[in-house]
Amino acid sequence: MIVKNISLNNFRNYSSEKIEFDEKLNIIYGNNAQGKTNILEAIYLFSLGKSNRALKDGDLIRFGEDYAKVDIDFISKKRECKGSLIIENSKRKKIFINDIAVRRNSELVGKLNVVFFGPEYLSLIREGPKMRRKNLDVLICQLNPTYLSSVSEYKRLNEQKSKLLKNDRIDWILFDVLNEKILELSIYISKVRFEYIKKIERIAQKIQLEVSENREKLSMNYISCGLKISEKEIENLSDLYSKRMLELKERELKYRECVFGPHRDDIEFFINGADLKYFGSQGQQKTAVLVQKIAEVELFLEEIGEYPILLLDDIMSELDTIRQDFVLNKINKGQIFITCTDSEKFKNIKSGKFLRIDKGEMTECISI
Ligand SMILES: Nc1ncnc2c1ncn2[C@@H]1O[C@H](COP(=O)(O)OP(=O)(O)O)[C@@H](O)[C@H]1O
Ligand SMILES: [Mg+2]
Repeated sequence: MIVKNISLNNFRNYSSEKIEFDEKLNIIYGNNAQGKTNILEAIYLFSLGKSNRALKDGDLIRFGEDYAKVDIDFISKKRECKGSLIIENSKRKKIFINDIAVRRNSELVGKLNVVFFGPEYLSLIREGPKMRRKNLDVLICQLNPTYLSSVSEYKRLNEQKSKLLKNDRIDWILFDVLNEKILELSIYISKVRFEYIKKIERIAQKIQLEVSENREKLSMNYISCGLKISEKEIENLSDLYSKRMLELKERELKYRECVFGPHRDDIEFFINGADLKYFGSQGQQKTAVLVQKIAEVELFLEEIGEYPILLLDDIMSELDTIRQDFVLNKINKGQIFITCTDSEKFKNIKSGKFLRIDKGEMTECISI
């Protein structure tokens, strides 16, 4: 996939700007808080129809304006496509692909795929499970629209159950109805998550062996409802989860919150059998995250026959030169966007585009 250009109108700190990109490598540089990440965010919007960082769509509208518009020209599955996204104050955002309105985010899936990698991801292994779940879901949602719809439906039902649990008197009939639907969706979500964790593990394992000169074997575990889920459990998930749901009911009533279900899932990473979260050095953890991200990029190629757009936000400054080279040499196949404050690091690149951003304007653009 290739993003050819993007037009930003009243988007974040941009008033009106059209930027043409290189098909391979784009280095977006400039001081802090000038609008570099905003460009990546604008591209990201077309992957799943929402921002990777804004809490509300309205945050994307330039302060003091009443709408924001982003237009993008890209090539996907060898076809020229155009996308438009319009956000108006207090209205639902509208997305169009080739002038056709997208009614649900699940309809957008697969049009423009991205892998986003920012500095916060470097603590993917060390931090709590939320980020690991989100990272996995963003990947799967782009590859599987049914999964995206199921996760949204699951969230809706869980919110409903959560409200119900807060009531003084619980409506048990409704509780059982919700639980039945939640159980069904949980089984589906967990099966898909397990399947993708195994796919990522297979690719990541190969890369990890390569970077460690065959010394480090990486493996991953899927943890759901407090249980380690293996191949055997996946086959009998229906029995396992029905039992677990009953077991956890007492705790749900005691704490008045939803305890059962994949919204509490986690992923564990191991190197040669040792849990990376507890036994890995910071360097090992960073490398494992890089390997994860590269595996994600490769998985897109495997599943859909095309590389995704790789968005590397301010990541290079966090890595030593060995790991920087590793990133640049290992993932140089699709189109890449790199934001940084210091473009000097890239002075040796043979071809690509350097775009300088100052206060929401492109002030320099050099192709080499
Ligand atoms: N809705 C908005 N309207 C106007 N400016 C905004 C809006 N949202 C963010 N900004 C501005 O955008 C800048 C941050 O942009 P960002 O792309 O994150 O910077 P960086 O170049 O450091 O990556 C800040 O100056 C912030 O005030
Ligand atoms: Mg930034």
